[in-house]
Amino acid sequence: MQPASKLLTLILLIFMGTELTQVLPANPEESWQVYSSAQDSEGRCVCTVVAPQQSMCSRDARTKQLRQLLEKVQNMTQSIQVLDQRTQRDLQYVEKMEVQLRGLETKFRQVEETHKQNIAKQYKAIKAKMEELRPLIPVLEEYKADAKLVLQFKEEVQNLTSVLNELQEEMGAYDYEELHSRVSNLEERLRACMQKLACGKLTGISDPITIKTSGSRFGSWMTDPLAPEGDTRVWYMDGYHNNRFVREYKSMHDFMTSDNFTSHRLPHPWSGTGQVVYNGSIYFNKFQSHIIIKFDFRTSSISKSRQLDYAGFNNAYHYSWGGHSDIDLMVDEGGLWAVYGTNQNAGNIVISKLNPNTLQIIKSWTTNHPKRSAGESFMICGTLYVTNGYSGGTKVYYAYSTNSSTYEYIDISFQNKYSHISMLDYNPRDRALYAWNNGHQVLYNVTLFHVIRSEEL
Ligand SMILES: *[C@@H]1O[C@H](CO)[C@@H](O)[C@H](O)[C@H]1NC(C)=O
Ligand SMILES: *[C@@H]1O[C@H](CO)[C@@H](O)[C@H](O)[C@H]1NC(C)=O
Ligand SMILES: *[C@@H]1O[C@H](CO)[C@@H](O)[C@H](O)[C@H]1NC(C)=O
Ligand SMILES: *[C@@H]1O[C@H](CO)[C@@H](O)[C@H](O)[C@H]1NC(C)=O
Ligand SMILES: *[C@@H]1O[C@H](CO)[C@@H](O)[C@H](O)[C@H]1NC(C)=O
Ligand SMILES: *[C@@H]1O[C@H](CO)[C@@H](O)[C@H](O)[C@H]1NC(C)=O
Repeated sequence: MQPASKLLTLILLIFMGTELTQVLPANPEESWQVYSSAQDSEGRCVCTVVAPQQSMCSRDARTKQLRQLLEKVQNMTQSIQVLDQRTQRDLQYVEKMEVQLRGLETKFRQVEETHKQNIAKQYKAIKAKMEELRPLIPVLEEYKADAKLVLQFKEEVQNLTSVLNELQEEMGAYDYEELHSRVSNLEERLRACMQKLACGKLTGISDPITIKTSGSRFGSWMTDPLAPEGDTRVWYMDGYHNNRFVREYKSMHDFMTSDNFTSHRLPHPWSGTGQVVYNGSIYFNKFQSHIIIKFDFRTSSISKSRQLDYAGFNNAYHYSWGGHSDIDLMVDEGGLWAVYGTNQNAGNIVISKLNPNTLQIIKSWTTNHPKRSAGESFMICGTLYVTNGYSGGTKVYYAYSTNSSTYEYIDISFQNKYSHISMLDYNPRDRALYAWNNGHQVLYNVTLFHVIRSEEL
């Protein structure tokens, strides 16, 4: 608590200057009380001020509100750190692109100067590459603006924090309503900014980092993208069939450094490696069926179970590596998805958006990509990315956007360090790909490209 004398002065000042009722909370037990005003022998105004009991201080309504505000600002600071990290990461990519572009431009000019009428073919090739890259320039410019925006957020939050700290010492000296609206406004802008920065088109996959080496050739592992702040529990499922034990590691650190885990026994074994943990529940494909089960870890019980109509199972439409990987469940920024093949779509991939509570299909998209010739697939911002295979040199080469119901061929290669990938899933919270790479659990960062228009903020 602040020094009593300081508060006393403050209260007196307020008492003389403004209406008391605006400043002090209604409940006299929880506040400072000014009882009377009279004149002493020398004609001065005298106030009797009674301080609240010490134990009451913490219950003072305004103190409580302040504490909430402070907490909000702390939360915002955390969000900004995340934003900052992401922006830095993407900025590095952008800078690399910029250097490439500049280099190309220089080379282009050299060719033009030294071989004026010469090597038409080379000239043409470079020109084509140049044309390809040119649209990126405005994108790069906007990106720099994003980075500036994050800096500005940082300054605003720092500013706000110091105002709040002062305020704790001199309650009432600042218009609380105004402060509250400033925090809310900032929070809203930050959220919009995070959302925009979070979504975009996949443009790169980093080198992998091996988190752990354990388990068989096939399996899956993940963290919950909706877990509360600080909850980094790791979920681990070894094998693709006839297993029903899910390991829970307390944290990513525990997962990396120990073999201390809790085991959860599912009521049914799973099929494939398409499980996903989302908001405290695991969603998995029941062995030898096209039933999807939602199992709540909090209550250790099935909270929903539903048949995924028309979905092939039992190796009818597996990924190219086999292993009953017919039905792949995944989560992106937009929610829960199921990826599978159907007879109706001639064994090509069908994408369905699922309601995470009822497991009902909200909407489906039919692609022209054969499920059996896909290595793996993952969803980012409503776009399904498909890899070309599970072994050898791997790349993401097909992208289907559910937003526009269109597909395109792309070419984003990534390292298949241990030669066999049986699971590859995006986590929208970490913006990373989780992979099961031949008994190794590895992570990749992804780079997404997004353009923010300043008028949207
Ligand atoms: C701050 O974040 C924590 C954890 O996510 C949350 O429980 C809490 O309600 C948040 N506080 C405010 C004021 O938003
Ligand atoms: C920080 O606060 C001061 C005083 O409230 C204000 O004048 C200034 O513009 C603020 N700066 C930012 C970046 O919001
Ligand atoms: C393992 O985890 C349990 C609970 O999660 C904990 O009580 C125990 O101390 C841990 N053991 C080691 C060796 O870390
Ligand atoms: C996550 O689970 C909590 C508690 O069951 C629920 O209140 C919340 O709405 C869920 N969030 C989403 C996005 O489904
Ligand atoms: C989805 O499409 C709409 C309109 O075509 C566009 O405005 C929006 O930015 C797209 N969203 C994503 C995530 O691509
Ligand atoms: C992803 O990026 C973050 C932040 O730059 C970094 O800490 C982490 O190690 C990276 N992970 C991978 C797999 O490269």
